[in-house]
Amino acid sequence: MMKDKRLSVSAIKEGTVIDHVPASALFKVVSILNLDKLDTMITIGNSLSSDKLGKKGIIKLSKVFFQDDDINKIALVAPSAKLNLIRDYEVVEKRVVEIPDEIIGIAKCVNPKCITNNEVVTTRFEVVSKSEIKLKCHYCEKITSRNNIEIL
Ligand code: CTP
Ligand code: ZN
Repeated sequence: MMKDKRLSVSAIKEGTVIDHVPASALFKVVSILNLDKLDTMITIGNSLSSDKLGKKGIIKLSKVFFQDDDINKIALVAPSAKLNLIRDYEVVEKRVVEIPDEIIGIAKCVNPKCITNNEVVTTRFEVVSKSEIKLKCHYCEKITSRNNIEIL
């Protein structure tokens, strides 16, 4: 018997598919993109099998098209994510996400004494390493790195 290899999440007509999201980052991506604020159709699949990632997550957003700046925010938690723009059921563009040079207001500074952890100040980091993901706080200069990034 032929094995059915189709994903159990249906195709969309128009919008954005965020594919190849590590299963462990899926809900962080949902939060970074504020998807709870959308009232358009969203389908989310998690822990689907993937050759590349073992288990992957996928997010399908009908009628949503992002600005580059917005979507690149997810590179912090899901650098492997691939964006697919869908028009009339066809993939018309594929994009990878790129870690921005500066991160504003997404991550928490690792330093408990930092002003951003003690007063109402938006966090701001310079990305000093994109490959390892190291963020240097604009205020206290401490480095927050991949394994201690906490998403706000
Ligand atoms: N997709 C969708 N709706 C469409 C077309 C595609 O939801 N109308 C989804 C597919 O399910 C897939 C992603 O968009 O998750 C990318 O589609 P496609 O390029 O056809 O798949 P692959 O070749 O498997 O992509 P990749 O090489 O990135 O793994
Ligand atoms: Zn700081």
